[in-house]
Amino acid sequence: MGATSPFKNHHYNNHNHQSHFVTKKLIPWTLYALLPIALLRLYFNPLDFLLSSSDHLLPTTSPISSSSSISISNPPPLIPPHQHQESEKARHESAPPCDYATGKWVQDKRGPMYNATTCTTIKEGQNCFAHGRPDSEYLYWRWEPNQSHCQIPRFDPNTFLQLISNKHLAFVGDSLARNQLESLLCMLATLSPPNLVYTGGEDNKFRRWNFPSHNVSISVYWSPFLVQGVERSSSGPSHNHLFLDRVNQKWAEDLDKMDMIVLSFGHWYLNPAVFFEGDSVLGCHYCPGLNHTEIGFFDAVRKALRTSLNAIRGRRRVANTKGISVVVTTFSPAHFVGEWDKNGACSKTKPFGEGEKMLEGMDAEMRKVEVEEVEMANKEENGERYLGYFGAVTLDVTKLALMRPDGHPGPYMHPFPFANGVSERIQNDCVHWCLPGPIDTWNEILLQVIKKWDLGQSGREE
Ligand SMILES: *[C@@H]1O[C@H](CO)[C@@H](O)[C@H](O)[C@H]1NC(C)=O
Ligand SMILES: *[C@@H]1O[C@H](CO)[C@@H](O)[C@H](O)[C@H]1NC(C)=O
Ligand SMILES: *[C@@H]1O[C@H](CO)[C@@H](O)[C@H](O)[C@H]1NC(C)=O
Ligand SMILES: *[C@@H]1O[C@H](CO)[C@@H](O)[C@H](O)[C@H]1NC(C)=O
Repeated sequence: MGATSPFKNHHYNNHNHQSHFVTKKLIPWTLYALLPIALLRLYFNPLDFLLSSSDHLLPTTSPISSSSSISISNPPPLIPPHQHQESEKARHESAPPCDYATGKWVQDKRGPMYNATTCTTIKEGQNCFAHGRPDSEYLYWRWEPNQSHCQIPRFDPNTFLQLISNKHLAFVGDSLARNQLESLLCMLATLSPPNLVYTGGEDNKFRRWNFPSHNVSISVYWSPFLVQGVERSSSGPSHNHLFLDRVNQKWAEDLDKMDMIVLSFGHWYLNPAVFFEGDSVLGCHYCPGLNHTEIGFFDAVRKALRTSLNAIRGRRRVANTKGISVVVTTFSPAHFVGEWDKNGACSKTKPFGEGEKMLEGMDAEMRKVEVEEVEMANKEENGERYLGYFGAVTLDVTKLALMRPDGHPGPYMHPFPFANGVSERIQNDCVHWCLPGPIDTWNEILLQVIKKWDLGQSGREE
């Protein structure tokens, strides 16, 4: 692959595309309209490249991670109905809920708990150290939440596996879901190596591992839209066709076998798409030439998440047996500066300092949609009398992730990218996260969330 854009033939990668955004005054997603054109361009082009499964330009073996910070304000899931009252009491007696989303990155000389030697499942595209990334300062930071009673302990694989023993944890979504899963596998592998027990779909899009020591299953389901859709392709439609009211059965048909689901998605909604609801076209995102109304993508993301959460709740109620816990990892911002294929597209080696970078624009809006939908699902569940079948939280990592422009593979998505000298044009991944890297923190916070849930379930003190 050279320095030319792999999507140069796509109709939207041109000036019309940009002027379309500029001239379209009535777009409802005004925040988005405020973004500079250069930024728009970066969002569309590189993501289309990096996140496309059909182009095979990026080995899907490279996972992208998402980060998470969580506020736990919802009823803890997995509580059998008869224990509900007691656990309510336990909750009230414990410390106020933690807001992991507010805090700062501080230096930490301990460094990561795994590396490319000890973890054999790191994907090519995220194996930054093995690919010759020369700096290592990005590995020596930890997230310090503002609230002093909410400090995040170092990840303890034994605790994690114990808390989900005899359970099945599924990661569902795009390559950032996969990035987070692969971070988790590396951290758990320091205790006990996972057995890969299932693999299916091209590029290992569906995989499951067992940790026999604790009878834990962890799986990943490729479903970048969560809902049903037809991906655009060179031979098929030039837009994604997304059915926002129909959940993707690739993962939903296994719901009865899952105890906990991590949903992580969003970036694929930036691509040109036509959105369907029922039998009719709801609108589209970037579809000049088609006679559809431009509706942006925030509403589509909202509907897709709502459809998914409703499907999970509905299925669980029918099954009527055990609870299910849902974690929505919030949107993980990209950090392209300038063009995606220009040397130095994300070459920072330190996190942003406090106040240096605000959460705003599309990143903020995506996160907001996710937070609101999770709140609404819990509210509805409670309104129908909470029976312990469903509970959801957000793993609110958007801010944590935003502050880590230094955590991406950049050119080290490929091995030794400068072996033949430095060139002006080079492909950069400023979306996914190096492993090890900042995304490990998402899973440290995930463990804290699961601990809370377990506390609710058993009444045990930490
Ligand atoms: C990886 O970690 C192991 C165990 O901590 C250590 O012995 C080894 O030197 C590390 N390898 C690299 C390449 O850092
Ligand atoms: C951090 O916590 C302190 C008290 O614990 C609070 O007064 C302050 O508003 C918090 N800062 C932010 C940014 O939330
Ligand atoms: C092992 O875990 C699965 C869920 O992944 C569960 O259905 C099964 O009952 C567990 N086995 C035992 C012996 O608890
Ligand atoms: C576009 O859609 C509108 C409203 O649905 C319709 O009235 C019009 O005829 C359509 N134009 C074309 C060229 O199909």
